[in-house]
Amino acid sequence: MANETIPRLESYDDVALTKAFGELKLQFNQEAMLSGSPEGRESLRVDWLGRKQGRLTQISSIWLKTAPDSAKRSLGQRFNEFKAYIEQSIAQELSVESAGSGRPLDAIDISLPGTRSRIGIEHPLIKTMNEIVAVFKSMGYSVGVGPEVETDYYNFESLNFPPNHPARDTQDTLVVAGQERKALRDRLLMRTHTSPVQIRTMEQQAPPVRIVIPGKVHRNDAADATHSPIFHQVEGLCVDTNITFSDLKGTLDHAMKAFFGSSVKTRFFPSFFPFTEPSADVQISCIFCGGKGCRKCKHSGWIELLGCGMVDPAVFGAVQQKQPGYDPKKISGFAFGMGVERIAMMKYGVSDIGQFYSGDMRFLEQFA
Ligand code: PHE
Repeated sequence: MANETIPRLESYDDVALTKAFGELKLQFNQEAMLSGSPEGRESLRVDWLGRKQGRLTQISSIWLKTAPDSAKRSLGQRFNEFKAYIEQSIAQELSVESAGSGRPLDAIDISLPGTRSRIGIEHPLIKTMNEIVAVFKSMGYSVGVGPEVETDYYNFESLNFPPNHPARDTQDTLVVAGQERKALRDRLLMRTHTSPVQIRTMEQQAPPVRIVIPGKVHRNDAADATHSPIFHQVEGLCVDTNITFSDLKGTLDHAMKAFFGSSVKTRFFPSFFPFTEPSADVQISCIFCGGKGCRKCKHSGWIELLGCGMVDPAVFGAVQQKQPGYDPKKISGFAFGMGVERIAMMKYGVSDIGQFYSGDMRFLEQFA
């Protein structure tokens, strides 16, 4: 930069001088903009203001010294203005720099109390999710995850929801736009449940499988006190030889006792999910009244908490193309799924689901 030649002045009239200094200014500004580091700015300063080789020194010797007397006054005036501009810009850059690095070194008072940053806490939903997961981990389950943007195949078809089957209407789906040219099975959507990870897990791993899958799910539901278009589930899957409905009941009964307390009872009601057969809804005895009946349990003594069932042979059939070990004649399994928000709302007495997503410190601090 330093030996950049100084352009020759073609004439000394106003137009030529304005143009020449304008160009120099542009050049300086560009270089100043690129001189990000402290070293860069120092070399910028030496380049322009250096006593011997600085560009201003060169300009003054080439332009001023060779100028005719009649032009020296106006040239000198412009030169001084330009020099002041450069000095000021460089001084400003330097002061920004020292302001950025905090106080000058000698002003640090080490006896002052430090800045205390507040320690965060687990969000109540994450905390609840981790507690549920921990219960199953202690029973030998591993933990898995899967994508939130899913294909129609994993979210529905492989789970025995055929195209156009009315069972799909039970999960109002948010789909990714502009997918019409793809085959239905490849079209992308926001997963409506964590169940697609059942399939993804079995495709990756031959039986036996014991896995829990915590995660976020999306449904095209209007938000109200108990619904949110984004919420969380914990899914479970157990596949091995001779897994029976008693294993499912025993596992969930133990899990509910471990999570809510040993006095909690469970009961199972017939239900329907396309990917389990038979299917059941699980209720627990009301944790508020101990089953006597109160407003929270609508005076029934029971609260409905999760869905479950024995893995449908059709689901194993979908997986068998990739993992022949999932032969429904040789193995069996159960699956379950629960809503994390619902459980956290019950556990902490939260009446509006929206509180979890509000980011309101007054709400969140209660869980610290
Ligand atoms: N995926 C179901 C839902 O979101 C819940 C479920 C999971 C039911 C596993 C049975 C077995 O409604």
